[in-house]
Amino acid sequence: MSGIKPEPGWYKDAIIYEVHVKSFLDSNRDGWGDFPGLTAKLDYLQKLGITTLWLLPFTDSPLKDDGYDIRDYYKVYPSYGTMEEFQVFLSEAHKRGLRVITELVMNHTSNTHPWFVSASSSRSSPFRDYYVWSDTPDRYKGTRIIFSDTEKSNWTWEPKTRQYYWHRFFHSQPDLNFDNPKVQDELLTVVKFWFSLGVDGLRCDAVPYLFEREGTNCENLPETHTFIKRLRAEIDREFPDRMLLAEANQWPQDVLPYFGEGDGDEFHMAYHFPLMPRLFIAIAQGDRKPITDILQQTPAIPANCQWAIFLRNHDELTLEMVTDQERDYLWTTYAEDPRMRLNLGIRRRLAPLMGNDRRKIDLMHSLLLTLPGTPILYYGDEIGMGDNVHLGDRNGVRTPMQWSFDRNGGFSTADPSDLYAPPIQNPVYGYQVVNVETQIRYPTSPLNVLRQMIEVRQSSHVFGRGAMTVLHPKNRHVFACLREMGDEVVMVINNLSDRTESVLLDLSRFRGYTPVELFSQTPFPVLERAHFHFTVSPYGYFWLALRPPAFSVRRRKRTGR
Ligand code: NOJ
Repeated sequence: MSGIKPEPGWYKDAIIYEVHVKSFLDSNRDGWGDFPGLTAKLDYLQKLGITTLWLLPFTDSPLKDDGYDIRDYYKVYPSYGTMEEFQVFLSEAHKRGLRVITELVMNHTSNTHPWFVSASSSRSSPFRDYYVWSDTPDRYKGTRIIFSDTEKSNWTWEPKTRQYYWHRFFHSQPDLNFDNPKVQDELLTVVKFWFSLGVDGLRCDAVPYLFEREGTNCENLPETHTFIKRLRAEIDREFPDRMLLAEANQWPQDVLPYFGEGDGDEFHMAYHFPLMPRLFIAIAQGDRKPITDILQQTPAIPANCQWAIFLRNHDELTLEMVTDQERDYLWTTYAEDPRMRLNLGIRRRLAPLMGNDRRKIDLMHSLLLTLPGTPILYYGDEIGMGDNVHLGDRNGVRTPMQWSFDRNGGFSTADPSDLYAPPIQNPVYGYQVVNVETQIRYPTSPLNVLRQMIEVRQSSHVFGRGAMTVLHPKNRHVFACLREMGDEVVMVINNLSDRTESVLLDLSRFRGYTPVELFSQTPFPVLERAHFHFTVSPYGYFWLALRPPAFSVRRRKRTGR
């Protein structure tokens, strides 16, 4: 029986947990995580309080880009299990009320996909036109190179048929030709296949790059929107409660059209890329301005849409949506060692970025869970896992989940040399010290504190759906805002600095109200004056419900932080 109830806008109340099947739990001792392993850990995820899982690509692939190079859209990569095992996983997730989002990689395939194998074997192949070919590498000159550390051009020479093919990512990932209606139909068939199996949403990879046009930067073209509107219309007709999430690493005003502007007829959700690096700047500088600036530049989105917000993910911490000056600041602050840098970003996890300072890690989670949008957590960050700069590309942030201090961190009983990647082993972040088993056992562990934060957030719709008003106290070290929905009001105060700060907030609207601290349900003194003074510890935070005079304050058992 499924515990999933159809609920319009469910994604607004979600807490998404991003996980790689490969990295979670190996059930058959081959050194790779798999679906039975992930299924066995659903209870852990349910207890953490997340509501939705986002799985990284798990279909067949030569893994030149960790599965974002698809060889077969309809087959599970053998090390991860079988289609039957995927279906068992999905139904077990649903039984627990957990929804599942999978990947839709539309922009490109692997060069080992049968379409490309055929297309590159002869110019008369029926699949030739599935890809983008050219006699010269001079077309679309205005297009940036994304994987700038590895690729020198977006064109690669194909010697057999003597033409160049177009690719926005690795040269082993040829771009599909969306001008070909057959390509569009093929991808719609893929979408319907996964929705028919019961997945609840698709995270649509690399959306801005579907089409190419001379004289443009080949991003965000009108043709892309026409296709997305068609995709959405077909989904709404056949699978009305499903969700489409856009990966469009762009400025908020350029992402807006992906929601379908006024109509909300394209994506339900899109990542807020520029917010993320600014949270890292703000906490490093102890200044709220980077956050308030980007929120100010964020346009309103249609009522049925939602931002997806995050701190870290499986990629480098991308610094594309910052100014050159901000990028230099982030690089010098967070990636002193050149090995920590990749393309235009930083390949590190949350805990090391925060210098393993618990106060900062918790504060970043406080921001993530209270800013407007649906939060996405990256597996392992709930326990403060570290990273490994010695592994190439982005693999250093994709190491095995650390369950216990047993062999291989409890991830696998295989020989250590058989693992897809070594678990983190160092005195600060190694699995011997950072693991789930340990953190379950004491209430103030990173895991338990995050769990409590999630519980509080999930006790109300105000965080996922409420309006936000930024407060502007004089003290810029403090970022404070109101979240409001109906007559429910929550005030969040975050101290971004490493000192105790006092802040005077104009709360004249709430005279006579009682602030109630949400983690302990402790009532604060009634707001009797127009301005109210709060003292916040270094990197401290308050989540305070503002209760009107008539509201009886029920004191719940203190749970403590
Ligand atoms: C974005 C994904 O997040 C990244 O991991 C991948 O390499 C590229 N898209 C190409 O698919």
